[in-house]
Amino acid sequence: MTAGPLMPTYPPPAVTFVRGQGSELWDDDGKRYLDFLSGLAVTSLGHAHPAVADALNEQARTLVHVSNLYGTQPGPDVATTLDRLLGGGGQVFFTNSGAEANECAIKLARKWGGRGRHVVVSALGSFHGRTLATLHATGQPAKHEVFQPLPEGFRHVTWNDVDELERSLDPTVAAVLLEPVQGEGGVNPATADYFAGVRRLCVERGILFMVDEVQTGLGRTGRWFGHQHFDVVPDVVTMAKALGNGVPIGACWARADVAGVFEPGDHATTYGGQPLAAAAARAVLATMEAEDVTARATTAGKQLTDALLALPEVTGVRGLGLLIAAELADGIDARAVAADALAAGLVLNAVTPGALRMAPSLLVTGEHIDEGVAILRSVLEAHT
Ligand SMILES: Cc1ncc(COP(=O)(O)O)c(C=O)c1O
Repeated sequence: MTAGPLMPTYPPPAVTFVRGQGSELWDDDGKRYLDFLSGLAVTSLGHAHPAVADALNEQARTLVHVSNLYGTQPGPDVATTLDRLLGGGGQVFFTNSGAEANECAIKLARKWGGRGRHVVVSALGSFHGRTLATLHATGQPAKHEVFQPLPEGFRHVTWNDVDELERSLDPTVAAVLLEPVQGEGGVNPATADYFAGVRRLCVERGILFMVDEVQTGLGRTGRWFGHQHFDVVPDVVTMAKALGNGVPIGACWARADVAGVFEPGDHATTYGGQPLAAAAARAVLATMEAEDVTARATTAGKQLTDALLALPEVTGVRGLGLLIAAELADGIDARAVAADALAAGLVLNAVTPGALRMAPSLLVTGEHIDEGVAILRSVLEAHT
């Protein structure tokens, strides 16, 4: 077999998609699929949303890029909306991806903490990105090994264990970085007690509480941000995925006094927040607010959860809103089920060897939920 043009960082794809519309996708043979994954919680408004397409079209004909050395309009509008959705009092740095949003948070924590107080504590099972620093923040030691030595200054503790976290906090720690729901780690929600305990500890010790909302942010869990389920106010929040509905844009928000430690020259990006991506994000946020996506995620998430729990091969469902993992009965291989579901026209993924992740569009219809679960039912029947 000859090597293809792409580096072999992903297994060879089983399908090539050429078109999408709402919750539907079509491959290069014209076959239709139902998309229950949304490009890993990215296309929250579905594919080819007209408001996003129109905003991109108009911005492409107006101004695509200058440089962050100059002012442009969509970015500040998006930052203002994000700050409002986060409760106000903060400032935003735009990036192109989730990993870069976390890089910004890590650099901010280091400058805020000062020399010698630079450690970021995160949880085992977490995922924060693939750059060298965010890979080290990611609490999955198996992913670290071949890239050692990684940047110094990261420490991992058991998920949802506030006592272990407390024991890890010494004077070198600048920040704690956690997801409200560990997405890549298996769709494992934090408990409200854990987040409240972390918030309290961080206040007591003068440490930043940084929340990675890259997968959970912007309506996905039934709140604008996942941490809002737990009634805590973080110092730093990162996001990406859903912000551009597929157009690459991420953001790091921080309380204004924390953000204020950055001075011109401390951090920068050529593309982050550039007009085309920011125009998409502005349209995404306006549409999300108009469509009341948080309420829709709650209602549709309940419908999907109830339908999944009615399947005999599903032993449990975990997650929040429309970020869900269906646990399969012992002995059923989630990877094989996901592959067969794809062949049967349903896109989802195996987030662990025994659980399927689903993150449909927040605008998914009740009919599409019924159709997707019916496909899954017949696929699972063949696996028992
Ligand atoms: C919680 C979380 N943080 C960070 C990232 C990294 O984002 P990106 O792939 O855009 O760099 C991801 C990606 O899945 C994620 O789920």
